[in-house]
Amino acid sequence: MRISARLYDWLDRRLNLQPLERSLLDEPIPGGASWTYVFGSATLFLFGLQALTGMCLAVYYVPSPDAAYDSVEYIQHEISFGWFIRGLHHWGASAIMVAIGLHLLQVYLYGAYKRPREPMWMVGVALFLLMMGFGFTGYLLPWDQNAYWATAVGTNMVATVPLAGDFLVRALRGGTTLGALTLSRFFALHVLVLPTLIVSGILLHLVILRRVGPAGPWDEHRAGQTREAFYPRQVFMDAVVMLGAFLVVALLAVAVEFPLADRADPADHTFTPVPEWYFLFFYQLLKYTPGPLEPLASWGLPFLLVLGLFLLPILDRTPERRPAARPLAMGAGVLFLALVFTLLGISLRSLYAQPRMDPSVAHGKALYARHHCAACHRIHGEGGKVGPDLSYVADERPDAQWHLRHFRDPTSVSPGSIMPKFPLSDQDMTDLTNYMLSLKSGGAIASDGKGAA
Ligand code: HEC
Repeated sequence: MRISARLYDWLDRRLNLQPLERSLLDEPIPGGASWTYVFGSATLFLFGLQALTGMCLAVYYVPSPDAAYDSVEYIQHEISFGWFIRGLHHWGASAIMVAIGLHLLQVYLYGAYKRPREPMWMVGVALFLLMMGFGFTGYLLPWDQNAYWATAVGTNMVATVPLAGDFLVRALRGGTTLGALTLSRFFALHVLVLPTLIVSGILLHLVILRRVGPAGPWDEHRAGQTREAFYPRQVFMDAVVMLGAFLVVALLAVAVEFPLADRADPADHTFTPVPEWYFLFFYQLLKYTPGPLEPLASWGLPFLLVLGLFLLPILDRTPERRPAARPLAMGAGVLFLALVFTLLGISLRSLYAQPRMDPSVAHGKALYARHHCAACHRIHGEGGKVGPDLSYVADERPDAQWHLRHFRDPTSVSPGSIMPKFPLSDQDMTDLTNYMLSLKSGGAIASDGKGAA
């Protein structure tokens, strides 16, 4: 007998594994295996990946305002494959949101939340909220400008909740402002509280699934015709999608570096943070609700939405599961998706619309890239550390003549400078100088091309 078979046999005689194995793999799927059922497993797999990469990051991460930024920078630049692990964790979070979204959509479309699966749906909605909580708390941890100011905006929104708002913000922040206590609280939530809650929730979700069984197709007749076991075809489909999800996340981690912005500066109120894309539609909505309407949008609407989702199986009680027979539910779903994607589209367009940049500055910026200035200089977190940080160089050096002399011959104004002389025409030097002069506090975002409109 092979070693593995003998080991299995040994364990089986002690732990009585066979019934367990049968109940796990022989779970019948009404209507047979299908590619539409893979999103739950994909979410579970991606969550496992987050847990794994998160543990690796936690080995080096230090949750204090003095050290957090440096520790993330250390992970990103010094540790072998640190950038890859951090990239997996960043893109994995986005992938989970996509997977959950598709899973939710499938369950909604198939009417699978209906009796007798109401408890499974409700636990699922709670899991979705916990996942949002992971995104929100994780965003602060690198303690860069984006992290700091996005969290400032986010926690300010919590303050608009009636009655409990003040208390909630102080509890979240550990005081009136964002600081060391906020960071340790978010860290504790992110790595201890939320994981405990979500793992319990996932187990509950799966136990319920095993008790009631999968819903299968909405056509009851078809559901009754075939019954196929979970193993092997559904297991195979799930595995293929898991592998695909991993490849996509790994590819993104390799191809799209997730940069660290500047170190958080609580004094710099000019910074406009950009939230994660899955919060963007909401961010855009808030722009349309000024003044007295704001609290309605910042807590009223999300509250109603979550409540509606949660109570959906109670609100929609007809046993009919075919989409064609549920015009109200389908209409509401389509309307909601249209609204979310329209807001997301508007928001992305205004974020990435190239602000009309002075052509000379734009050319200077291109020269900066072409001559690899970033090998020695960094601008907003990107680039080397041999030369000075140029993010706000115009604050220190607003004089065009100085820059021109410096580019012509660095040692003429900076004795002993190791910065090379570049073969630049007079026009090039003027353009590069104009680009340098555009790098000042307050103007930083616009010249970056990523600023919020
Ligand atoms: C080999 C590394 C290196 C490269 C490449 C390099 N620099 Fe520098 N740069 C330095 C060093 C070192 C200093 C500090 C000494 C000095 O002022 O010359 C400096 C200083 C500067 C300063 C003055 C900053 C200040 O605050 O005093 C500017 C502006 C600047 N570089 C722009 C550029 C531009 C634009 C390029 C690309 C065309 C570039 N550098 C390429 C090393 C480099």
